[in-house]
Amino acid sequence: MSLDTLKAELLERIAQATDEESLRAVERDALGKAGVVAGLLAAIPGLPGDQRRAAGQGANQLKSAVQEELERARTGLEAQALEEERSGAGFDATLPPATGRRGSLHPLTHVQRELEDLFTSMGYTVLDGPEVETEYYNFEALNIPADHPARDMQDTFFCKPDNHLVMRTHTSPVQIRAMERLEPPFRAIAPGKVFRQETVDASHDHTFHQMEGLVVGKDVSVGHLISAMKTLLRGIFRREIEIRLRPGYFPFVEPGFELDARCPFCETGCGVCKRSTWIELLPCGMVHPNVLRAGGIDPEEWTGFAFGLGLSRLVMLRYGIDDIRQLLGGDLRFLEQF
Ligand code: FA5
Repeated sequence: MSLDTLKAELLERIAQATDEESLRAVERDALGKAGVVAGLLAAIPGLPGDQRRAAGQGANQLKSAVQEELERARTGLEAQALEEERSGAGFDATLPPATGRRGSLHPLTHVQRELEDLFTSMGYTVLDGPEVETEYYNFEALNIPADHPARDMQDTFFCKPDNHLVMRTHTSPVQIRAMERLEPPFRAIAPGKVFRQETVDASHDHTFHQMEGLVVGKDVSVGHLISAMKTLLRGIFRREIEIRLRPGYFPFVEPGFELDARCPFCETGCGVCKRSTWIELLPCGMVHPNVLRAGGIDPEEWTGFAFGLGLSRLVMLRYGIDDIRQLLGGDLRFLEQF
């Protein structure tokens, strides 16, 4: 078969093609590994020397012609498909929409958003802070010097031994960042992820969520602290919850408290409250003067309170989750329940 006939045949097949699949078939027959052009090129070495050049040129011209026609045909097909889509032919407005499967919000996100709504309605600003912190913000500025035994209370992941960067062990560093940024009086919360080198069990994870709260103003007192904590618990459990304060030691508050809430699940003791009817829920206290100073605030003029809610534990209480590892475990069977 002459080269011209071959070419005519291939171009005719392209012209007749009505879909991408037929075009791909011609492409394979003409330009594929075992295609016409490859065959022509492979035959060249067997030709007499004076015919080789012409044969090579012929094969290449055929190749270019086929490629050009394929491209033209494809552009044509695309334009045609677009035209059909625009014309609305074949569109059935009565079919249900093609929705994919939608995910759901994480239980931590649900509770965090609820608390953000509650606190913003009380005039609090929602702040964020870095998860990789300097030792200064995570410890020193919070009145925990390098040799202070309180550093042992929070086993720390150090990023690199000498660069003084740590994965923050609590959300309290945001207290200092808030004081540096905001003019008193102010109220702020800072929810977020924190990290501790802990032995993991059903109620301790190495990565968990806390929510810091900080209020700085004139004559802020323990009474304000208690009232804010009661509002917080009422918001979470949707009813009045009895609380008690026990002394608690944190170098960044003075006095410091552990706030316990009456177990919302029982009256006489249950597994959740370890039969005591009280649940240790949130450490809190009056901001230590050294901390106010570190944040650039004069403790003679301003006072404040702070709290550090264990958000992950609260989510567990709220939904009756008995193992904290479920929260960040990534098991869809667990997450799809929310
Ligand atoms: C603190 O982290 C202080 N920064 C809290 C604070 C803030 C005190 C402001 C005073 C003023 P603590 O280490 O106790 O404190 O942690 C606070 C809460 O985080 C705990 O009550 C608990 O609910 C939660 N928590 C602590 N360790 C873990 C853990 N490994 N896994 C899950 N939750 C934890």
